[in-house]
Amino acid sequence: MEPIQAPSPTVPAGSSAPPHDWLSAGLYYDYRQAANPVRPGLTEPIRYHQWGAELHGQGPTAVLPLDLSGALGCEGPATSPGLAAHFLRLLPGEGLKAAAAATSSLFYVLRGAGTLERPADALGAPLSLSWARGDLFVLPAGADPLLHATEESVLYWVNDAPLLRYLGVLPAGPRFTAVHYPAARQEEALQHLLADPSAARSNRLSILLAHADLPATRTVSHTLWAMLGVVPDGAVQPPHRHQSVALDLIIDCDPGCYSLVGTELRADGTILNPTRIDWEPGGAFITPPGHWHSHGNESGRMARLLPIQDAGLHTHLRSLDIRFASGLGGEG
Ligand SMILES: [Fe+2]
Repeated sequence: MEPIQAPSPTVPAGSSAPPHDWLSAGLYYDYRQAANPVRPGLTEPIRYHQWGAELHGQGPTAVLPLDLSGALGCEGPATSPGLAAHFLRLLPGEGLKAAAAATSSLFYVLRGAGTLERPADALGAPLSLSWARGDLFVLPAGADPLLHATEESVLYWVNDAPLLRYLGVLPAGPRFTAVHYPAARQEEALQHLLADPSAARSNRLSILLAHADLPATRTVSHTLWAMLGVVPDGAVQPPHRHQSVALDLIIDCDPGCYSLVGTELRADGTILNPTRIDWEPGGAFITPPGHWHSHGNESGRMARLLPIQDAGLHTHLRSLDIRFASGLGGEG
């Protein structure tokens, strides 16, 4: 008996296009060879990396991407598979366009002051904003904003453009409204927290920045998560972990502040063979997904950090998997 033959692909009359090859790209792996492709040479693991403040300390007006796309094996700029962090350095009287095809863009003003102008486009109305040191603002999908500095300025800019490039999509519309979190309002929330009698017993004091359009995730955008974190002098925080990646910016610290990061815990709840990342004001570092981490402060003065994560997306996917080694330490 003859095997059943698939009908031969036919080329429509008048077409010169070859028939689609349905078969040759289909591969068949032994499960054991492909069940965990996160390994060197395939899907590259996310590794520790640190950037010093000298990156944005001098030089012309420029977008300075914290680009690990080569190590990640993806198109850049990308700091993690889904997020891109940058420093924006602006000289007085100069401007630049923060151009990205992203659903969420978050800006934190490390120093300086200036304005933002975003023209109207098919996705939204025009926007104007004056910003100053310590301000944070988020923009949904839309036209590229123009940032203009009235004094020498450095901004930390994180967006989810790498995620969209991976998906092969462009935004179809805004998923939230643009919001400004002025430094004074952040400070008010922080001081309210510090005045809480229970705060005296905590070594993790942090304000999560959230958006009224996103009550389910309690995050700053539907993909991004942002926290104004404080680490008091003398704090040694219990470790925690989460599947979101953290792109941490150190806002303010004296020498003696650090993070310990590692993949395993000891029986006593501390991190086994941790990597120590020493903090520097204006520096940034990446905390890989799933790694245990804890912050410590031996500096004699309270320190501040701003971790940005893709935890809005992970929360929606129910894949955040945040765990604490002991007690309720908060997050960061
Ligand atoms: Fe964290």
